[in-house]
Amino acid sequence: MLRVEKLDVAYGHLQILRQVDMHIKNGEIVAILGANGAGKTTLLKSVMGLLPPKAGKVYYRGKDVTGTPTFELARQGISFVPEERNIFQAMSVEENLLLGAYYNKDKAKIAQNLKKVYDMFPRLAERRKQLSGTMSGGERQMLAIGRGLMNEPHLIILDEPSMGLSPTNVLVVFETIKTLTSQEVTIAIVEQNVHATLNVASRAYVMEHGAVVMEGTSEELSGNDYVKRMYLGQSIETENETEA
Ligand SMILES: Nc1ncnc2c1ncn2[C@@H]1O[C@H](COP(=O)(O)OP(=O)(O)OP(=O)(O)O)[C@@H](O)[C@H]1O
Ligand SMILES: [Mg+2]
Repeated sequence: MLRVEKLDVAYGHLQILRQVDMHIKNGEIVAILGANGAGKTTLLKSVMGLLPPKAGKVYYRGKDVTGTPTFELARQGISFVPEERNIFQAMSVEENLLLGAYYNKDKAKIAQNLKKVYDMFPRLAERRKQLSGTMSGGERQMLAIGRGLMNEPHLIILDEPSMGLSPTNVLVVFETIKTLTSQEVTIAIVEQNVHATLNVASRAYVMEHGAVVMEGTSEELSGNDYVKRMYLGQSIETENETEA
């Protein structure tokens, strides 16, 4: 579905990504983990044509799409839900959702997708006429994810979808993600919520200082001592003591 090869990205003279390789197969949920500033958002933005890479390639469904503009990638079935959400505040919830279906000309299909999103997030249905700018942070998050689904993407790329949400809504987001794969959507997800993410993801990459330092299945990474210590907040010593 997606392959990134030896990607180098810089902001001016400041090189951020170094030789990043990663791939996502059809139907997978792949997580990209890493500390603040590791380069996760930079990677997603450069895949989405928002930051031209200095070197390297991006392939989508086998085709070279390096540097292809975001709207063209959207038209080809990639939805991006960025960290900053980009909700149009002066438009209603429903108007924002319909913008997500911009490339779909089939009215019946649009209505069907809208219903799916409302079933997933009843809160959005209740508030369909409300101005988006007056929605709470969590509600706006749901709206951004819902809008990403209106385009019936083959691949949805989520940058920290659970950020700022209450525990209940974090659950809603992760449940939604699980539901999506049963609807044949492939997912790339950047998250700080490492435990919950490894529970839903099939594989994951760990980034540090702009490079991929580890990759594996979610089981492999959940069981890895370094990951446990650095990302799952578990002290290995304490665990061994408990076992002894
Ligand atoms: N426009 C920019 N100009 C200069 N440096 C930038 C720019 N955007 C990001 N950076 C730097 O690039 C590095 C990677 O940032 P990035 O946003 O990709 O990290 P991240 O892994 O998404 O972090 P977080 O978990 O905090 O969202 C950081 O050191 C950041 O300061
Ligand atoms: Mg980020």
